[in-house]
Amino acid sequence: MNKGFVRILLGLLFYGVLSTISAQSVETTMVNTGKRPVVLVTNKETPEKGINKLRLKCDVIFPENHPATRDEILELAGQVDGIMWVGHMLLNGEVLDRGGSRLKAISTMSAGMDYVDIDEFRKRKFPLGYTPIVLNDAVADSAIGLMIAAGRRFHEGRLAIDQSQWTGGPQWMLGQDIKGSTVGIIGMGGIGQTIARRLKGFEIGQLLYTGRRPKPEAEALGAKMVPQAELLQESDYIFIAVPLTNETHHLINESALAKMKRTAVLVNVARGDIVDQKALVAALKNGTIFAAGLDVTTPEPLPADDELLSLPNAVVIPHLGSATVQTRDNMAEIAALNVLAGIAGTPMFSPYPY
Ligand SMILES: *[C@@H]1O[C@H](CO)[C@@H](O)[C@H](O)[C@H]1NC(C)=O
Ligand SMILES: *[C@@H]1O[C@H](CO)[C@@H](O)[C@H](O)[C@H]1NC(C)=O
Ligand SMILES: *[C@@H]1O[C@H](CO)[C@@H](O)[C@H](O)[C@H]1NC(C)=O
Repeated sequence: MNKGFVRILLGLLFYGVLSTISAQSVETTMVNTGKRPVVLVTNKETPEKGINKLRLKCDVIFPENHPATRDEILELAGQVDGIMWVGHMLLNGEVLDRGGSRLKAISTMSAGMDYVDIDEFRKRKFPLGYTPIVLNDAVADSAIGLMIAAGRRFHEGRLAIDQSQWTGGPQWMLGQDIKGSTVGIIGMGGIGQTIARRLKGFEIGQLLYTGRRPKPEAEALGAKMVPQAELLQESDYIFIAVPLTNETHHLINESALAKMKRTAVLVNVARGDIVDQKALVAALKNGTIFAAGLDVTTPEPLPADDELLSLPNAVVIPHLGSATVQTRDNMAEIAALNVLAGIAGTPMFSPYPY
């Protein structure tokens, strides 16, 4: 069947699910409260698609400032029934305390939840939603882009042009091959698997992954689970696609980098703190590894004078993984549906499994 057609069919199905669920939430909400609930959306630039979903059944308020201050958000939290939490500001018990008994539900507009104090939500059994899955394709696309850009020295090549150093020649600016290479994916969740599917077209040699337990989906993609040390030693390209937790904090440190091939390319589309950035800078400077492609850094935003940005073999982009029009629209719509369902006391479209 035509791929475009399948895409449209899936899109319609997805939209159908969204509409059905929101229709259910409407009735419950309206019947239960008798007046329109109020929802705080913490960022004024949240896509209209999501805001409009909320407005069908709720009044929507925003902080005055852009970006909003924490004080402002805490102040408004006490005046609303639900919050759409847009951005990576710490979401913790303080927000729930300030929300008080009126606040019924919160949904983030992200897949990674490292900025959320999950324990606090679990303790209070407070309805919490998030937006995984819809961003897998966009994030995987940017991972592949970083793989090629770093492996083929796009940034260094551009710098050479800027500095009138375009010499050319058969040995100039040579990069690493992808065909036949060994690729290691740290974290074979939705994003890791989507990267693996993208790689099918590149005729890579071997696909390795690490994780807590073997995943049938990964094996179906021809991936082989190995201990982390083996993945680090064998891989020509290494993708980081795990959530940031206490266990994965600085997972890629000096010893991990020392295990990698000198020709290795490291790609991080997860969270900056999974990599010990100081150790990475050292490794990129002295040839411990070949190059890195980073969508995420420590801190964010990265200051313009950070040493990482002075390295020709570091391709750095400003956390653009899910930044496409369609993806952000979908994320906003799902977050809105989560909040509506939470306020109505019904199961969220995409609850966080705490
Ligand atoms: C993670 O580490 C922080 C600080 O080191 C600690 O406060 C927190 O309880 C830890 N969380 C878990 C889930 O272990
Ligand atoms: C790197 O992390 C590993 C695993 O957590 C740890 O055993 C090792 O001591 C760390 N190495 C450095 C140099 O921090
Ligand atoms: C590069 O620097 C790191 C960190 O200082 C060190 O562990 C490593 O041995 C050095 N490697 C080379 C090839 O000089």
